[in-house]
Amino acid sequence: MKHKISPSLLSADFLHLQQEIELINDSEADWLHLDIMDGVFVPNISFGFPILEAIRPVLKKPMDVHLMVADPGKFISKVAEAGAHVMTVHYEASTHLHRTIAAIKGAGMMAGVALNPHTPISMLEDIIHDVDIVLLMSVNPGFGGQHFIEHSVEKTARLKDMITCKGLHTLIELDGGVNMETAGRLITAGADILVTGSFVFKSPIPQQTIKHLKAL
Ligand code: DX5
Ligand code: ZN
Repeated sequence: MKHKISPSLLSADFLHLQQEIELINDSEADWLHLDIMDGVFVPNISFGFPILEAIRPVLKKPMDVHLMVADPGKFISKVAEAGAHVMTVHYEASTHLHRTIAAIKGAGMMAGVALNPHTPISMLEDIIHDVDIVLLMSVNPGFGGQHFIEHSVEKTARLKDMITCKGLHTLIELDGGVNMETAGRLITAGADILVTGSFVFKSPIPQQTIKHLKAL
């Protein structure tokens, strides 16, 4: 499968949100990544459901919603009603992950599980069969524009091996510090979806940057 690009709205110009959404619509981006933070699970607050509902009528790409919140299972129906295609919850924030994954799928969305940089992929042993996407954080969650954690490349390769050995088709998503250089190595290691915030939105011509990332 050709890798997907999911630009993160976190680095967009919020004063001109409609223009930023139209830019994404007119680009080769596959999805739009939406980072919801609660100031509890991560030391930052971003945006919530009113923003998802506001952009939904304008956005022509699937919404890839990444919840960096405590107890994300509480928000499944809100995320589904907002029109999300993917809902990703953190392993570290989910006490009843099996139930949460089933409920996300039951609400008609793809179910993703995110791992913080320190969380080993072995923690997925008894849940990976039920998961559509594993999102590996390649920075500590909470902020855009951070430096890529090198260990993420080798972690991606090990996760790819785990998925292949089990005969699964789970997708691997990488999030944080993705640029042209890290993207190339992550694709080689087995990444299927690349989230990229500041590298796309702070570049002179974001659509060209997305095109170049897509062409890797
Ligand atoms: C970080 C978020 C990321 C972030 C990526 O907590 O999950 O999606 O927006 O931003 P960059 O690409 O700038 O690292
Ligand atoms: Zn994210």
